[in-house]
Amino acid sequence: MKPETQELYEQFILCNYAPPPIAIVRGKGARVWDDKGCEYLDFSSGVAVNALGHCHPVWVKAVKNQIEQLGHCSNLFASTLQGKLARRLCDYAGPGKVFFCNSGAEATETLLKFARLHGNKLSGKEGLQFQVLCAKNSFHGRTFGGMSATGQEKIQTGFRPVLSGFSHAEFNNLESFESALTDNTSAILVETIQGEGGIHAAKREFMSGLRDLCTQRNILLLVDEVQCGAGRTGTFFAFEEAGIIPDGIAMAKGLGGGFPIGAAWIRKEFAELFQPGSHGCTFGGNPMACAAAQAVLDVIEDEKLLQNVQELGSWFLQELVKLSDNYPGLVDAVRGRGFLIGVALKVDAGQAVAKLRGAGLLSVPAAGNVVRFLPPLNVTRAELLKCLETLEEVLRDWSA
Ligand SMILES: Cc1ncc(COP(=O)(O)O)c(C=O)c1O
Repeated sequence: MKPETQELYEQFILCNYAPPPIAIVRGKGARVWDDKGCEYLDFSSGVAVNALGHCHPVWVKAVKNQIEQLGHCSNLFASTLQGKLARRLCDYAGPGKVFFCNSGAEATETLLKFARLHGNKLSGKEGLQFQVLCAKNSFHGRTFGGMSATGQEKIQTGFRPVLSGFSHAEFNNLESFESALTDNTSAILVETIQGEGGIHAAKREFMSGLRDLCTQRNILLLVDEVQCGAGRTGTFFAFEEAGIIPDGIAMAKGLGGGFPIGAAWIRKEFAELFQPGSHGCTFGGNPMACAAAQAVLDVIEDEKLLQNVQELGSWFLQELVKLSDNYPGLVDAVRGRGFLIGVALKVDAGQAVAKLRGAGLLSVPAAGNVVRFLPPLNVTRAELLKCLETLEEVLRDWSA
């Protein structure tokens, strides 16, 4: 990192992140360059944001064209762009309606407000049926709602008391969820694949069991697809694998391909719970964000990226497993789906991520011991091979 950037950081940026000493200034496809001209293979993808890699020409053109036409206009006025994008998301999710916001935490907050509206309507009184049952080890964002829903001590530490109205059951354990339900529960909220928690996928039977449970109890099944959605696992939503339709879905990250956008989809039969004045977001569904998201969906469809994720994702996972088998002293397990892959180590993931970066590969740590690989959906086999080679190199040196 150039000394100027370092000084600016030291003086003016709150240190809630601890960035490594590099500053990324340029990107193209799956590659980025730092301010000293060093090239990296970027398998961090902005933590699952850069779905099309960096600066995909269709995405760049869409944002450029839109900014020349209309950069922002209030949600007090209707937007055809929002309407068209919402229709497209409903084509993927099912009959419903969409609320646009800017981030994953805001999308999750929308689902939490949905849970309150539902519980209050069912009980006929505010504040009786308001509990949201979430999973241990989950992550739902850094706002007070998201943090309170999150099932990880470390996220809440320093900020207690968090909001009341949340409880946590064992992920992938249907009995644990069933026994944690009370008359006050209005919704269950889970990630289909826990990302920050270390890449743990919900089992099919768990998701379909939750669906049945929610239907029987007349409570909502809310799914946080902020990290695992938008094609990352080879289907547009990761929960599709379980053959279910939830009542609410939170989306963000990959949806805008690098332009901030979040969205909450609400199943049709519940959409009327939201009425004028019940929720809002100044920048939500901004024209450029909608144009960027349309471009992401166009490229996913035109370049058949879901197929690419399915084909290359399973091959990449197998190769990682083979490679890891040679390093039993360092690697504990390889898990994940599509291009949301975690290599669980027996050593600190932060150290491993630093070594990989030193060798020209960017990855993201999770849950202390997991190295996350999140290549763009249009990554090539050659780029995946490069990642495997680099990982092998680092593990070989480490074990020597
Ligand atoms: C599953 C999940 N939900 C919510 C969030 C919060 O999203 P954001 O950082 O855009 O607010 C994240 C971020 O990592 C996430 O992984």
